[in-house]
Amino acid sequence: MKQIDTERLFPDEAGLARAGAILRAGGLAAFPTETVYGLGANALDDKAVARIYEAKGRPRFNPLIVHVADRAAAEELVVFDDAASRLADAFWPGALTLVLPLRAGSGISSLVTAGLDTLAVRAPDHPVGQAVLRASGVPVAAPSANPSGRVSPTTADHVIQGLDGLIDAVLDGGPCGVGVESTIVVTGPNPTLLRAGGIPVEALSACLGQAISIATDPTRPISPGQLESHYAPNGTLRLNAQAKEDDEVLLGFGPVDADLNLSVSGDLVEAASRLFSCLHALDDMGATQIAVSPIPDSGLGRAINDRLKRAAAPRSGSLHES
Ligand code: TXA
Ligand code: MG
Repeated sequence: MKQIDTERLFPDEAGLARAGAILRAGGLAAFPTETVYGLGANALDDKAVARIYEAKGRPRFNPLIVHVADRAAAEELVVFDDAASRLADAFWPGALTLVLPLRAGSGISSLVTAGLDTLAVRAPDHPVGQAVLRASGVPVAAPSANPSGRVSPTTADHVIQGLDGLIDAVLDGGPCGVGVESTIVVTGPNPTLLRAGGIPVEALSACLGQAISIATDPTRPISPGQLESHYAPNGTLRLNAQAKEDDEVLLGFGPVDADLNLSVSGDLVEAASRLFSCLHALDDMGATQIAVSPIPDSGLGRAINDRLKRAAAPRSGSLHES
């Protein structure tokens, strides 16, 4: 692929205006959100969206999340039901993506929806992400800003390491606070969790006064791209390790003697925020065999374990995603 100059922008007035102009003109600009850095393109522009797949080396078209500044902007694209309205009122801006019926005449590229009649939308809770969305004036499709199958980026340096020369710009807004991708929910009569993420499903169920179903049948993913090897560092992972063996590096959780620790105090929020930067750091250390301490499977632990399971999944074939 042709290499281009990737501009590193800072979130001052000029940097934000430049990022907005790149997006409006059909370019690719990575920007920070509270979860991970997104690789943004104008969601109304087929060619711009196709460039996302090219830059990431994504093997096939998966539907993408469209980012908007607020509920009013989302209303122009999708139709909210009662449950979706309650969730958006409670959690937006924030790490929650809602999958809702696409509004006729929205203008969203069919490469964004992969031809589905639903659209995934979210309003990110990050001042720089918000500013770039407002500067662009368009809905912005954005998967995580990493090469397909690799660890998601939580700093501008991670984005540069993976995509330098392949995208027009990265807007540096510092490290992401939440550290794992958004929680994805489809509403309707039976609200269902499609991806565990930065907002615990327990909090969503409490808001609705109704348990949210968890899509569990792995042979029938409702959300395409949910099965494959993903988030993979260079080394192999062994999960739920009580201790490391010879030749292994230990990624710890809690008060264990580890080479790197997600959270010495066993705090799941801290662990989520450090997960991807620890996986990047393991690559930088040249770790080839990585043992990982057990992590409780509730609250943010569900999203952390989901990412770790994918990182540990077999990597053969063309199964890498996102
Ligand atoms: O935190 C995040 O969500 C990050 C930041 C950048 O906002 N974005 C992100 O986007 O993770 P992406 O494109 O990597 O994740 C999209 C996920 C995929 O698993 C896709 O299958 C699912 O959302 N998805 C998108 N549209 C869908 C739809 N209409 N129905 C079901 N699943 C959908
Ligand atoms: Mg991704």
